[in-house]
Amino acid sequence: MIDTKVVAISGGAKNIGKGIARKFLNEGWAVAILDLDTESLEKLNFEPERTLKVVGDVVDEYDVAEFFVKVKEKFGRLDAIVNNAAIGGFKDFLSLSVTEWKRVIDVNLTGCFLMVRFGAILMLESPGRGAVVNISSTRALMSEPGNEAYSASKAGILGLTHALANSLGPRVRVNAVCPGWILHEGEEVSETEHKQHLVGRVGKIEDIANIVYFLADENQSGFITGQCFVVDGGMTKKMIYI
Ligand SMILES: NC(=O)c1ccc[n+]([C@@H]2O[C@H](COP(=O)([O-])OP(=O)(O)OC[C@H]3O[C@@H](n4cnc5c(N)ncnc54)[C@H](O)[C@@H]3O)[C@@H](O)[C@H]2O)c1
Repeated sequence: MIDTKVVAISGGAKNIGKGIARKFLNEGWAVAILDLDTESLEKLNFEPERTLKVVGDVVDEYDVAEFFVKVKEKFGRLDAIVNNAAIGGFKDFLSLSVTEWKRVIDVNLTGCFLMVRFGAILMLESPGRGAVVNISSTRALMSEPGNEAYSASKAGILGLTHALANSLGPRVRVNAVCPGWILHEGEEVSETEHKQHLVGRVGKIEDIANIVYFLADENQSGFITGQCFVVDGGMTKKMIYI
């Protein structure tokens, strides 16, 4: 069994998930990443001894189960799961098909269920306490038109979070993060877009990576479970009528 702690991250090949993986590596953990995007996974140049990269779909229970078999083979333990993989699927409500609705709910919500359903088994065999961090969205709490599938999936994650905190405690803590607008790698936006936030800027990948690490680290957040944390530069506390 590896000496360092191990985190499994879904959708860790790029943007927020990749930033979360980098944060855990910088803190001395090993990371296991499950992602559909083969090309982005291949491009990741993380230290190979402490990194496991697996191509798979969080919706496919066989992919997810096989992923945790590989985590066990390479590292022999699991200390945290970060459910980050998701798709958008914004579409005019009256054009949204049942198939499109189901795919968003499957990836964003059922994917979280499957990652914890199979990952918790290895986590409970591992030494010490474990943690799950689910990435929701401020769109679980507020909406624009055409948000139905995404908002419902992200609100579902908040319910799943407190249910799992009850089922898996006291060994495993389960929390959620609701990011606001977070810029992707290399993305730039206007001054107006920055200034509309109460903190004067749009979110950075590190803003989310830092809180995810905090919630996974028993020493920092060992008394916190079942909660969701909004990280949005204040946008959900700002009234906008025009
Ligand atoms: N960027 C934002 O402004 C923002 C805001 C709120 C919430 N979020 C949430 O943060 C998380 C990351 O967002 P992002 O902007 O980095 O997204 P992204 O689309 O850039 O990255 C998502 C990753 O998940 C992977 N993925 C998608 N479907 C998958 C599947 N079925 N199986 C395995 N992997 C899959 C993708 O290949 C990709 O690497 C998501 O949960 C998203 O909903 C993002």
